[in-house]
Amino acid sequence: MVNNKPNIKYLFKPRSVAIIGASQSKNKIGYQIVENIKCSKYPGKVYPINPKGGKVLGFKIYKSMREINGNVDLACIAIPAKYTFEAVKTCAEKNVKFLIIITSGFSEIGNIEEERKIVNYAHIHGMQVLGPNIFGIYSSMAPINASFGPSEVISGNVALITQSGAIGVAMFGKTKSENIGLSTVISVGNKSDIDEADLLEYLILHKETKVILMYIEGIKHGDKLVSVLKKTTVKKPVIVIKSGSSKRGALAAASHTGSLAGADEIFSDIMEQCGVLRAESIEEALIWCKFLSNTPTPRGENAIIITNGGGIGVMAADACEKYGVNLYDDINILKKSFSNVVPEFGSLKNPIDLTGPATLSDYENALNIAIKKRDIHSIICLGCETAGFEVEKFPKLIDKIYSKNKSTKPMIFSFLGGIGIEKSISDLRHQGIPIFSDVYSAVSCFGAMYFNYHNLKSQEIIEKNSDEVNIDIKVINDIVKNVLKENRQFLLSHEASAVMKATEMQMPQSYISRNINEAVKYANKIGYPVVMKIVSKDIIHKSDAGGVALDLENENEVLDAYQAIMHNCRRYKPDVKITGVEIAEMIPKGTETIVGARRDKSFGPIVMFGLGGIYVEVMKDVSFRAVPITKREAMSMIKEIKSYPLLLGVRGEGRKDINSIIDTIIRLSKVILECDSISDIEVNPLVVYEENKGVKAVDARILLSKE
Ligand code: COA
Repeated sequence: MVNNKPNIKYLFKPRSVAIIGASQSKNKIGYQIVENIKCSKYPGKVYPINPKGGKVLGFKIYKSMREINGNVDLACIAIPAKYTFEAVKTCAEKNVKFLIIITSGFSEIGNIEEERKIVNYAHIHGMQVLGPNIFGIYSSMAPINASFGPSEVISGNVALITQSGAIGVAMFGKTKSENIGLSTVISVGNKSDIDEADLLEYLILHKETKVILMYIEGIKHGDKLVSVLKKTTVKKPVIVIKSGSSKRGALAAASHTGSLAGADEIFSDIMEQCGVLRAESIEEALIWCKFLSNTPTPRGENAIIITNGGGIGVMAADACEKYGVNLYDDINILKKSFSNVVPEFGSLKNPIDLTGPATLSDYENALNIAIKKRDIHSIICLGCETAGFEVEKFPKLIDKIYSKNKSTKPMIFSFLGGIGIEKSISDLRHQGIPIFSDVYSAVSCFGAMYFNYHNLKSQEIIEKNSDEVNIDIKVINDIVKNVLKENRQFLLSHEASAVMKATEMQMPQSYISRNINEAVKYANKIGYPVVMKIVSKDIIHKSDAGGVALDLENENEVLDAYQAIMHNCRRYKPDVKITGVEIAEMIPKGTETIVGARRDKSFGPIVMFGLGGIYVEVMKDVSFRAVPITKREAMSMIKEIKSYPLLLGVRGEGRKDINSIIDTIIRLSKVILECDSISDIEVNPLVVYEENKGVKAVDARILLSKE
């Protein structure tokens, strides 16, 4: 338990730092950290610690922490794991606020106890732990580079949080060659104490940080991360790279909701829900970071392409479609604005094609028109090295236009050509101009920019909250308690129906018959056709046991079905204990969907939606969101499935009742959020009727947690 957490600003701006394990040997990590601290021109007090004493890089080496006069804010520990705990104890004596434990050999190799012992001790003594198993921290605020990463760092406005050591160090190094300025680099390693969410919470209001890049391998407290990410992305863009996309099927397949997607699909969907950009590669992530940290926010959706080649223009238009960039298409305004700079054989439709012979002055004129036009919000400038293209002069023009307008309108450039063009691209990029030889890389930056733009816009829409739905949690908890008393981990169908009733969801009318006469009585009461289903705690998969009969039209069919169900189930499991047979209304046909909610290992409560039948079984066409969920988020998860157009109505059918699906998703999300004992709920099928005609939850499966 943390009862006296130190102020996190001292992690980023410590007044003094001790390096435990500071060595005079150049090949030791304890030496490299002192060297980096020195290179970063850290203005605070530096205390290298080593029992041998002496000097390192001009600093006096203290034989122990006890030799230091006064307190220390930050201690960097780089000694073997078996000595670390003792060193932590000496840090407590000097009122250290943050421990940066570089050392490996803790929970990552199963040494969980030692790691816990250190964290507990640290907390009791008012310290927090970064790591262990990390390469350290860089912070431009201090400035301090207390890491064994690269010593040459460009300070700037990108924050990098990384779980991976090696990749993190490599990315840290690559920022220099890519000319990306950093506000902070934090290696989180085993995340024994401080994790990404804690750091994001601080970075939300960190003036020095404009863009946050995270490299994640695994998530420990996903629910905490989700809530911080949602708050962060409305303030600044967050880009994530996550490895481990092949963990498909690793989740326990207790229900569809659990088995339909691997952890990676859930991760992707939830990141999108949080407004986080997911990059597919480190290169893409760095390109986006650099672009987003230097570009202004667009004032609107309308992008324009200016090109001297039709082909490259079409490629850019394709890329715009792929990355969700909207091309301005008011042909009258385009004609009026650009007809003076486009020859008759060029094109005034967006892409604006200046054609092959276009001169640099044609480019300049066209770009200036686009910059001045209020209805045009962002500019993609393309070029191919044609016969007369002024290769030597074009960098100067790009530099001039970009430097003058970079803070007013987002601009991106892509040029294709020989060695001269490539060299110019490399030089211009080094100057910080967003120019690429690959059109897709260029447009992907606009894709990232507009993803953030849309995220911000959608947050502005005032919406009704999920809290409005009424569900009777007490009734649900009482049902669950009774089931747990019987040592069962699943609800029988009448119990599941009672839970659904408590959530105020529309279920088919149904009764449990204890004998054949009751079966007939209830069928007559409901009216034909009816459905019959076995109710037994020994049978979960009712159809597999022959325990289901559909579409029964009259008394005789009910009598026959009752006997058949009894016979089948007794043959399926000779010692079966049968509670009864459920007689239910056979509901009219509609569009079958699945709505589920479950407790995910990484993210905690999540919800799932998909269309029934082959869409879910074969195509795995489902979407996920973390809970709690708003109506807007529920709508976005419905829209996200590929089969969404079927809900809008095809072949003369009307639009389906999407509002009722949203309502169902929100109700289930509330149950999973508030009833701790429930691990999985799945309504399958949820039959959806046409607009305003509602939905019916035909079958509900509810599983309970083992704990
Ligand atoms: N206080 C101060 N100094 C101490 C000490 C203590 N309690 N105990 C040992 N030292 C000194 C040693 O004498 C040595 O100094 P020297 O070079 O003058 O002899 C120095 O600290 C380092 O100790 P050493 O035993 O030589 O360890 P090392 O440098 O070989 O390894 C680690 C230490 C932390 C680097 C190593 O245990 C480790 O964990 N490596 C992996 C780090 C890593 O990859 N982290 C994750 C990156 S993402």
